Amino acid sequence: MTQRVAIIGAGPSGMAQLRAFQSAQEKGAEIPDMVCFEKQSDWGGQWNYTWRTGMDENGEPVHTSMYRYLWSNGPKECLEFADYTFEEHFGRAIASYPPREVLWDYIKGRVEKAGVRKYIRFNSAVRHIEYSEENDNFTVTVHDHNDDKIYSEVFDYVVVCSGHFSTPNVPEYPGFANFGGRVLHAHDFRDALEFKDKDILVVGSSYSAEDIGSQCYKYGARSITSSYRSAPMGYKWPENWEEKPALTHVDENVAYFVDGTSKHIDAIILCTGYIHHFPFLNDDLRLVTDNRLWPLNLYKGVVWEDNPKLFYIGMQDQWYSFNMFDAQAWYTRDVIMGRIPLPSQDEMRADSAQWRIEELKLETAKEMYEYQGSYILHLIEQTDYPTFDIDGVNQTFLEWKHHKKEDIMGFRNNSYASLMTGTMSPPHHTPWLEALDDSLEAYLANGESSEMKKKAAG
Ligand SMILES: Cc1cc2nc3c(=O)[nH]c(=O)nc-3n(C[C@H](O)[C@H](O)[C@H](O)COP(=O)(O)OP(=O)(O)OC[C@H]3O[C@@H](n4cnc5c(N)ncnc54)[C@H](O)[C@@H]3O)c2cc1C
Ligand SMILES: NC(=O)c1ccc[n+]([C@@H]2O[C@H](COP(=O)([O-])OP(=O)(O)OC[C@H]3O[C@@H](n4cnc5c(N)ncnc54)[C@H](OP(=O)(O)O)[C@@H]3O)[C@@H](O)[C@H]2O)c1
Repeated sequence: MTQRVAIIGAGPSGMAQLRAFQSAQEKGAEIPDMVCFEKQSDWGGQWNYTWRTGMDENGEPVHTSMYRYLWSNGPKECLEFADYTFEEHFGRAIASYPPREVLWDYIKGRVEKAGVRKYIRFNSAVRHIEYSEENDNFTVTVHDHNDDKIYSEVFDYVVVCSGHFSTPNVPEYPGFANFGGRVLHAHDFRDALEFKDKDILVVGSSYSAEDIGSQCYKYGARSITSSYRSAPMGYKWPENWEEKPALTHVDENVAYFVDGTSKHIDAIILCTGYIHHFPFLNDDLRLVTDNRLWPLNLYKGVVWEDNPKLFYIGMQDQWYSFNMFDAQAWYTRDVIMGRIPLPSQDEMRADSAQWRIEELKLETAKEMYEYQGSYILHLIEQTDYPTFDIDGVNQTFLEWKHHKKEDIMGFRNNSYASLMTGTMSPPHHTPWLEALDDSLEAYLANGESSEMKKKAAG
């Protein structure tokens, strides 16, 4: 009988899983039946922007944490698909740090070409997954919001692709209840213009703090204060941006820090990260981890060791993103299709323990992305995913870090060569700080017109 695979979520990881199976089919293999359940009305996961916060139109928690004017925070050359390049999608080379809508268009392009949308049931929130030892299968219970019906179906395999940057980690500080302005988590941040002419405090010292603070700077906040718990970000900030150590408490309009200083504040944005949250899984199937490079209990970073018919894609902290999900999806596909045999549970655990030991030795950012790169290479060597220049990607990450250190408000003006095609990206037509319109049209059309200008001039 044909095996059935349930894929939970149609973000970049779920899309990679669909494409992995379709690519095997394209080469003549018989693939299992697939059903991808997606609670939103469209695909793209985080990249599918909504103005909504809180609950969506179906009463489900809003998934995306992305906001208006979000641009890629790393070079697109580091996340390029090996089987579908930016040049193939856009018909020409484009600049290295595209805004959200451009990246969304790119990831959709590959799966539209593959024709896999037919496998997705949209507006379908997975409520529960139960494994039956007796039948060796999973019962997946789904709320179909199209008909407002709850139903269950049986599957042989489940691949969890529901993401882990959606459920906010929200600490409370003394005084929040009486603070006179808005207190929100980065997950609910949508538009920097809301904070124009305001004194804002961002709590946290990672990517969200850096990027949301930068957005607010770009769109006219009066001042930005960022507060770190462990270590400062340490960039050369503009004059109206100050880094402070840990926040202790606030009163109606003042924030107080552990070094005894204080500052007038109009709004507080908690850039304090996310939790891995799987409300549809019981303890026996549920990954419990913090945001790190090697979560335990996942053989090769994907196979649930306690029940190897369950898989997770994209659960690691992400230096690499889209092409790592591909490496994981191709590997998962080949385990499901019996092309890659799994060792005993003890051997799987020992293998994972070794990766964890190596992870614990990592100290620098360079060591971390090299580690993730070697993990990806390890996976793709076992499948037919096209291999690519991981050393070259690591080198691009290194240049990116250097460019950020040099100029945190200007690093997105740099260009890098594609590791898939070798083509050097053109510079964007407008420096990032001045590019206030982040639409796909503005990004691409202006590019064409500046090229036309060049042609006309030449
Ligand atoms: C603010 C922000 C900015 C980012 N910027 C970048 C960037 O510039 N570059 C980069 O490479 N990465 C970036 N990322 C990382 C981003 O997480 C990945 O690029 C990518 O979106 C992860 O894909 P995913 O499919 O694993 O998860 P998601 O994109 O989170 O997709 C998960 C999907 O699962 C669905 N789902 C969840 N629960 C259920 C359920 N119970 N039933 C049915 N469906 C469900 C969701 O609706 C969603 O569509 C950013 C992340 C955030 C939060
Ligand atoms: N494209 C873009 O421009 C963009 C923008 C935003 C985010 N992203 C992506 O989104 C993902 C998540 O990034 P993130 O920055 O939200 O999460 P993150 O990388 O997990 O960082 C969480 C931050 O919160 C801090 N923190 C946690 N609990 C805290 C507490 N109780 N008090 C004070 N600080 C606390 C952590 O400090 P410690 O270091 O002390 O633990 C850390 O600085 C990343 O993949 C990132 O690339 C991309």
